Amino acid sequence: MDLEAIEKVYRRYAPAYDLYFGALFQPGRRGVIERMRCRPGERILEVGVGTGLSLPLYPHHVQVTGIDLSREMLARAHERKARLHLDHVAALRCMDAEDMQFPDDSFDKVVAMYVVSVAPNPARLVEEMRRVCAPGGELYIVNHFHNTSPAIAALERLMAPFSKLMGFRPDLSLEQFIRDTGLEVIEKAAVNLFGYWTLLRARNNKPRRASEAQKATATADERR
Ligand SMILES: C[S@@+](CC[C@H](N)C(=O)[O-])C[C@H]1O[C@@H](n2cnc3c(N)ncnc32)[C@H](O)[C@@H]1O
Repeated sequence: MDLEAIEKVYRRYAPAYDLYFGALFQPGRRGVIERMRCRPGERILEVGVGTGLSLPLYPHHVQVTGIDLSREMLARAHERKARLHLDHVAALRCMDAEDMQFPDDSFDKVVAMYVVSVAPNPARLVEEMRRVCAPGGELYIVNHFHNTSPAIAALERLMAPFSKLMGFRPDLSLEQFIRDTGLEVIEKAAVNLFGYWTLLRARNNKPRRASEAQKATATADERR
């Protein structure tokens, strides 16, 4: 998948996306948001927010920012926000999640629902999610990964050449993904129909910035 292919395929999906992928993927969306245990005032970033099907599921005491590459998908998210008066949705912006315009540590929790097998470079995507998330924050991913059953895996390999047409890669390996991203997974669960999709909760294990580390050391010294 490249950015142009993603924009093209999701322009085509946008009008009927909710019909095809709304109810089917909703248990995974709900599962992620329940596991986030959102606290009042937390800043949440959802990358690849699409038509905003998850937005009504967040508690209204958080601040949600959604980004997506597809203007057509985002237009539907804007329409949903207005129609349902989703005041906890602070912003919806057109942006590449692999090259975000947010400063480091802008959010407490960052989530990608059904996006990592769509994005051109999943490792780069996770690196960006980690950068914009505060140290000690959490990253959440729900996605389909390459199936371990030989028959389904063979079918997914047959489908792989049609990724650009379908708008996702069916054969992304979970083990490879975790190796490439260095994600520190603290919870893993099977979700959606037949448990065919996987939910990952990971600690944002990036090092603190030098200035913050110095501040933390100074505070510890003062306490001694
Ligand atoms: C399968 S849809 C999932 C939408 C939504 N998260 C949901 O739960 O239905 C994938 C979405 O990711 C977006 N996407 C893919 N790569 C992206 C990137 N690099 N930056 C921003 N959005 C991206 C697509 O435009 C599309 O809206």
